[in-house]
Amino acid sequence: MNKEPIILAIESSCDDTGAAVLREKKVLSNIIANQNIHSQYGGVVPELASRAHQQNIIPVVSTAIKLAKIKKEDINAIAFTKGPGLLGSLIVGTSFSKSFALGMDIPIISVNHMQAHILAHFIDDNSSIPNFPFLCLTVSGGHTQIVKVKSHLDMEIIGTTIDDAAGEAFDKSAKILGLPYPGGPLIDKNAQRGNIFAFKFGVPKVKGLDFSFSGLKTSILYKIQKHVNDNPNFIKENLEDLCASIQYSIVDILINKLLMAKNQTGINEIAIAGGVSANSYLRNSLNLLSQKHNFNIHFPKFEYCTDNAAMIGIAGYFKYINKNFSDQRVVPSARLSF
Ligand code: KG4
Ligand code: ZN
Repeated sequence: MNKEPIILAIESSCDDTGAAVLREKKVLSNIIANQNIHSQYGGVVPELASRAHQQNIIPVVSTAIKLAKIKKEDINAIAFTKGPGLLGSLIVGTSFSKSFALGMDIPIISVNHMQAHILAHFIDDNSSIPNFPFLCLTVSGGHTQIVKVKSHLDMEIIGTTIDDAAGEAFDKSAKILGLPYPGGPLIDKNAQRGNIFAFKFGVPKVKGLDFSFSGLKTSILYKIQKHVNDNPNFIKENLEDLCASIQYSIVDILINKLLMAKNQTGINEIAIAGGVSANSYLRNSLNLLSQKHNFNIHFPKFEYCTDNAAMIGIAGYFKYINKNFSDQRVVPSARLSF
């Protein structure tokens, strides 16, 4: 067993093809090929995604190995995303990883994508590392979870969405505003100079630590339709205020549940992860609230918020040192839980 293993990591759960090389907890290279083809359809088209993964995976892996300044033979193990995600996309990464492991005679490590988002906090990049146990708000295009993280490999979901994910709420709202997919970053950008209180939308009432975003989306849709009927230029004239108000509504739901989880568990070590953790209003709000509500807040670096292979590599590292390997019979799982 190598104490400083070199791990090649593959991410292909949705529409980004990623490959990374890590030496222990340090990232030597982290390559991502985005698939622009989906923006014209307003969302990810699964069949097109898996086809693009097939085209991208070899060049992405070759580039990652080259930029890491290592040889294929130096790699001690390959880690890949087993799920959750789109099955056709996952199959490409899984098949590639199995073949590579077989060809190079190295162990294969399967990784849960959502756990990997959380473990991105442990990449050795000089950012603050949360202490165990901590709470992680994991917010992406497909998931919204509050996770109690007891150790690198022991995690418990204590809250989840009963319908849409937070990222979906951002993307679907952006679509209503006529913004291209993925709309989350564009709402963030347009909201910078908007008034968060300009428009009020329906607030969901969900018990406990669970979330709901579908009612909010409908409320946004109806309110905007009503205004557009009166004034066809309504969206254009109010884009910044609309973005700020929508962003405020989504972030407010997330923060209220996170504070509830903090009070229920007594844990004051808090982290955020997943694509939506790149959101500037969420980050600023949590920074401000951390003093008032007495908790420590940890953010991942921007490049490790949205889907990437480095996070699969760090999760692979922790499984490697625990000798937690898979075998050639491993299959991807679209609905993988913890
Ligand atoms: O984690 P991720 O890259 O992919 C999934 O696993 O789903 O998350 C993608 C989601 C998208 O919904 C995207 O709109 C959202 O993250 N997102 C943001 C921002 N950056 C990415 N949402 C709000 N503000 C951002 N700055
Ligand atoms: Zn993700």
